[in-house]
Amino acid sequence: MDLTAIKEASKYIKEQLNGTPEIGLILGSGLGVLADKIENPVTLPYKNLPHFPESTVSGHKGQLVAGVLEGKQVIAMQGRFHYYEGYSMQQVTFPVRVMKELGIDSLIVTNAAGGINKAYDPGDLMIITDHINNMGDNPLLGPNNDQLGERFPDMSQVYEQVYINHAANCAEKLGMSVQKGVYVGNTGPTYETPAEINMLRTFGGDAVGMSTVPEVIVAAHAGLRVLGISCISNMAAGILDQPLTHDEVIETTEKVREDFLRFVKEIIRTLPN
Ligand code: HPA
Repeated sequence: MDLTAIKEASKYIKEQLNGTPEIGLILGSGLGVLADKIENPVTLPYKNLPHFPESTVSGHKGQLVAGVLEGKQVIAMQGRFHYYEGYSMQQVTFPVRVMKELGIDSLIVTNAAGGINKAYDPGDLMIITDHINNMGDNPLLGPNNDQLGERFPDMSQVYEQVYINHAANCAEKLGMSVQKGVYVGNTGPTYETPAEINMLRTFGGDAVGMSTVPEVIVAAHAGLRVLGISCISNMAAGILDQPLTHDEVIETTEKVREDFLRFVKEIIRTLPN
């Protein structure tokens, strides 16, 4: 990972910002609306940022939005880079390095995911307790830069327990019932086969998606405190007798948008130190 590129991108962004961000947010499919709630926003399209990958998909907003949310200085990725788009793991995770360099200590990662756990329902929110990297790649492969993190990062408590408990308390306070579970990261872009979903359930997965794992590995390497939230947008393949569509994923995330916003705003408002 190129330290010069990280520093150049972060220097450019810093010059545009009004404060130092404490919390980074990665907003998944259909969940980007949270960035619209940021006060006094500074909006920086990825295409204007040095060393940021060029966006390939239309429709996805691709920008950083920085400002104040619930009294906290935040910087949000409205739209992320996915491995299935053809970006390298280093490109997918570059913004995490930059947000760390900008000063964040905490990263809240969100995504839309298919429910593997049969007790889940579409529209559920899930606090991620752990993940399984099923992508067959790792953003830390290659020479290690000791200035960015250690060669063999510990992954035994990546999703910080204090944050998991905090999120669960916020849900209770808001009268929302949320799930807790293990997120499996697959490359996509295909959805899984029913046989794959049965395998992933046996492996201990509760939800499956095509993002998050690379960013969280880099966040762990960088020493960031991580909270992950999945929006269960559909039941994974083979559970219900119906095909999976991207339209269903978007439709469900739109339906739970208000709950998602209330939940994450409360988490940020009262985030413990
Ligand atoms: N599988 C993989 N990724 C997903 C799914 C799914 O069922 N739903 C949303 N993202």
